[in-house]
Amino acid sequence: MSNQIQLEQVISGLNLDLSWEYAALIQYVQHASMLYGPEYTAVIDELLTHAEQEHEHAVIISDIIQYLGGIPTVEVANRLTSLSNTEMLRQDLQGEYDAIRRYLQRIEQLEALHLYDSAQKIRNIVLVEQEHAIDLEKALGMQKVRPGTHYPFSLKP
Ligand SMILES: [Fe+2]
Ligand SMILES: [Fe+2]
Repeated sequence: MSNQIQLEQVISGLNLDLSWEYAALIQYVQHASMLYGPEYTAVIDELLTHAEQEHEHAVIISDIIQYLGGIPTVEVANRLTSLSNTEMLRQDLQGEYDAIRRYLQRIEQLEALHLYDSAQKIRNIVLVEQEHAIDLEKALGMQKVRPGTHYPFSLKP
């Protein structure tokens, strides 16, 4: 595959990423308003922080696209919502997992073109998405440690 075709592929991938960043920003703002119950107060603050960070990601990705010679999209990908607190958080978590998967692919594509500077910017973004996923996993009460896991120290008091 020629470098030009590879470059066009990565630009179209980045435009997809950008449309999902805009969607995530909107979805987080709406979910922060819709979550209810006193136990969700801290989670609401967390989602609003995520929304601000998705906005920052959109700006960074838009600039990368322009830098690589593309035109940043104004499209917004699909948003999801629900009347259920846990369903909204599950929707947000799935969005983060999808973003992480896309960004790891984007890093590979950029590095194949020796665009290590742009790849570094995506690395910084994907680290934040991982933090978002961890926040949501914890808010959903997901226990990731498998039963029977052996610890190198005693958990007994
Ligand atoms: Fe993001
Ligand atoms: Fe995120």
